[in-house]
Amino acid sequence: MSKPKTIFICQNCGYQAPKWLGRCPDCGAWNSFAEELTEISHHDKGRDRHILGMPQRIDTVTIDKEVRHKTGISEFDRTLGGGVVPGSLILIGGDPGIGKSTLILQVMQRLAQQGLKTLYISGEESVQQIKIRAQRISADSSQLYLLSGTCLEDLVPRLDELAPQAVVIDSIQTIYTESMGSAPGSIGQVREVTVRLMNLAKNSGKALFLIGHVTKDGAIAGPKALEHLVDTVLYFEGDGSHSYRILRAVKNRFGPTNEIGVFEMMDNGLKEVGNPSQIFLAERSSDVSGSVVVPCMEGSRPLLVEMQALVCSSSLAIPRRTTIGVDPNRVSVLVAVLSKRGGVNLSNKDIFINVAGGIKIDEPAVDLGIISTTASSFLNKPISRNTVTFGEVGLSGEIRGVNQAELRLKEAKKLGFSRCLVPKKSIQSLKGKFDMEIIGVSSVTELLEALF
Ligand code: TYD
Ligand code: MG
Repeated sequence: MSKPKTIFICQNCGYQAPKWLGRCPDCGAWNSFAEELTEISHHDKGRDRHILGMPQRIDTVTIDKEVRHKTGISEFDRTLGGGVVPGSLILIGGDPGIGKSTLILQVMQRLAQQGLKTLYISGEESVQQIKIRAQRISADSSQLYLLSGTCLEDLVPRLDELAPQAVVIDSIQTIYTESMGSAPGSIGQVREVTVRLMNLAKNSGKALFLIGHVTKDGAIAGPKALEHLVDTVLYFEGDGSHSYRILRAVKNRFGPTNEIGVFEMMDNGLKEVGNPSQIFLAERSSDVSGSVVVPCMEGSRPLLVEMQALVCSSSLAIPRRTTIGVDPNRVSVLVAVLSKRGGVNLSNKDIFINVAGGIKIDEPAVDLGIISTTASSFLNKPISRNTVTFGEVGLSGEIRGVNQAELRLKEAKKLGFSRCLVPKKSIQSLKGKFDMEIIGVSSVTELLEALF
């Protein structure tokens, strides 16, 4: 009998090697290789094959009118780009316990209420356990079916019998195929199962939701390795100490990326948050130094967040720069610009920057906010409460224009702000459109003069 053929696969990124390696040459992870069986001929047999059509001339291809299933949960629909596309494969990643199962069960309930046959397959929980959760969120539609199972070969016939229009697999790490010898949850299994499910979705027009866990260090075969296989990747984020959760589209073949939906975890499931700016600003204290509001863009939607800074004397040889919610490297650069171009000496100061509400912001428009709030804390002078600011800051202290200035101001106006410091370049497009005091600034020095 010949020895079964094995291969070593990095469990972090999926890199394959014929022998064990201590460090992955592709992603750099240490001790991430695991031995997995390769049974090429066997597993090819199990794969569902398409019937290949003839190549078609582009001018003869017709497009059917796009149909999308709207769930009625507008935060979810918008994140997906207007609803669920039939035949699409959607991956929802997130830390364990963040609320992925709850969210998807609610989505399935809404689809079922509209008469779509939906199936929730769980490899983690029994049907009774899903029902307990369903009771909390009052999901009891007669079109919502539950199934507990982990073997793909057992699940596929059930899918064919029931013919649901939307299916959830919770979670992809628990499902395995018999055609591969490796353990459930290993990267080989997860990828193989995903490819098989994708063929199934494309051939039958079912909308398929896959739930995947991401661990903090990405040690388990995580959704990262699947991102290129699926149509849409959503991440469900939030931290345990806040009840707010953000659903973020990081990849979307059928809509815009970077779109977000905001939810709040309640006793009876997730509730949509229609006006997140109001919530992120709700606990703002008045007239303290080191606080300013910045209108950020999250996808197509403006979001007002409060940037806080605390600057205090340091007892360390190398002062501390700690940030929550913004990139620490960005903050280091901006602190250097503020010292050199703004004449604010921060060399022996500890600096802490925080975005209130536990949200993460990753766009250059917050630069002006970081500079303003740091200067305010250093000088111990509050920035007036009705002021917002946004803009990108360059290394020579110049302030650059950012996109969507109008949308940002509109949101600020809606929430009652009356004064806005913007890049000088953006002012032309804003003049006369808003009943607000709009001040254009072109350098860090001008900004500090306008603020204090
Ligand atoms: P869950 O959806 O099981 O998370 P995941 O699938 O991402 O692991 O939900 C996790 C947490 O949410 C759990 O700690 C309980 C809490 N929860 C509520 O606060 N309210 C609810 O209505 C439900 C269903 C769960
Ligand atoms: Mg779960």
